[in-house]
Amino acid sequence: MSTLLIYCRSGFESEAASEISVKAADAGIYGYPKFEALQGYIEFVVNPPHTSLTILEKLRFRDLIFARQWVACDELLDNLPGKDRVTPISEAVARLPKAAELWSETADTTDGRNLNGFAKKLGSAAAAALRQKELMLPRKSKADWRLHLLVLANNRIWVGVSPLVNSSRWEQGINRLKFPADAPSRSTLKLEEAFHYFIPKRMWPERLVGGMRAVDLGAAPGGWTYQLVKLGMFVTSVDNGPMNDDLMETGQVDHKREDAFTFAPGKPVDLMVCDVVEKPSQVIELMAKWAVNGWADRLIFNLKLPMKQRYAEVADCLEQLETILQEHDVGYRLESRHLYHDREEITCYLELG
Ligand SMILES: C[S@@+](CC[C@H](N)C(=O)[O-])C[C@H]1O[C@@H](n2cnc3c(N)ncnc32)[C@H](O)[C@@H]1O
Repeated sequence: MSTLLIYCRSGFESEAASEISVKAADAGIYGYPKFEALQGYIEFVVNPPHTSLTILEKLRFRDLIFARQWVACDELLDNLPGKDRVTPISEAVARLPKAAELWSETADTTDGRNLNGFAKKLGSAAAAALRQKELMLPRKSKADWRLHLLVLANNRIWVGVSPLVNSSRWEQGINRLKFPADAPSRSTLKLEEAFHYFIPKRMWPERLVGGMRAVDLGAAPGGWTYQLVKLGMFVTSVDNGPMNDDLMETGQVDHKREDAFTFAPGKPVDLMVCDVVEKPSQVIELMAKWAVNGWADRLIFNLKLPMKQRYAEVADCLEQLETILQEHDVGYRLESRHLYHDREEITCYLELG
């Protein structure tokens, strides 16, 4: 079990590679990444005495920003015979911890999408055979592991496992959301996905409640404000650009044509969200100002990442924010993620107090 597969957005392989190399090394686990640009996943080869399972034990999946999913594997099954792929897959599965569920996945790329139909059929056939051979537990039984096939071609397949409690709960690590037809911009899905990812559903009745007050910085045309309004919140939307008319007609939106960097709320709000397109370091300063002044209980903000050294930039920015919060004795929980609906950006969640 020397390889850890990490799924990521196509084009972010180098970020995923840098991040796992740094975070594994921090935990005393060394290895090297292998990937080709735009393939939508990387391999991280772990040096002995550790294995990829050690990483799954020692690192928290949610501490990774650029990983959509992680899967501990043995070796790539290559040149699989067309007539019987299930036997070699079964032999590989026999060496893995037992699972009750199998996800047959592809990379989130054009090539991957073309293999989806094949992958689904293979997954069903493999699961049936594996259960018959008692190499998988019966459906719905309690298990600590999930089995993954990552199908690269009809004869090249990775076989591996991820721990249920320390991995993504979505196939391919992707939470696909339906675009609401009446939303003013596609950006709306970024905030909706952020709610799902950062705030457990059981906390929604406390954290995302009608009647709460929110500020949306860089709000136009209103995709993020739309999500807040839908939850019944009263929103101050700050942007020089025009806001969607239907949103304004709800009576829940106060549009301020002001600069997000100088705007101050009259009184503290429950939630501040920010999608301003600006240098990440400037956005971080703005977020720190809000946190230190106690202007919001929770902040959700995007860091736009058009630069080359995107992982280094993110790491520097988050460290800068944490340093300021610690210097001011502000209690916080900070989580960051490259969400599925994010493009050249990541989303951060800062809970204060
Ligand atoms: C990516 S768009 C926001 C999209 C919005 N979240 C949505 O879902 O519709 C970025 C917005 O930031 C605004 N913006 C950029 N700099 C700003 C500033 N200094 N103050 C206020 N708004 C700013 C732009 O006018 C633009 O509307």
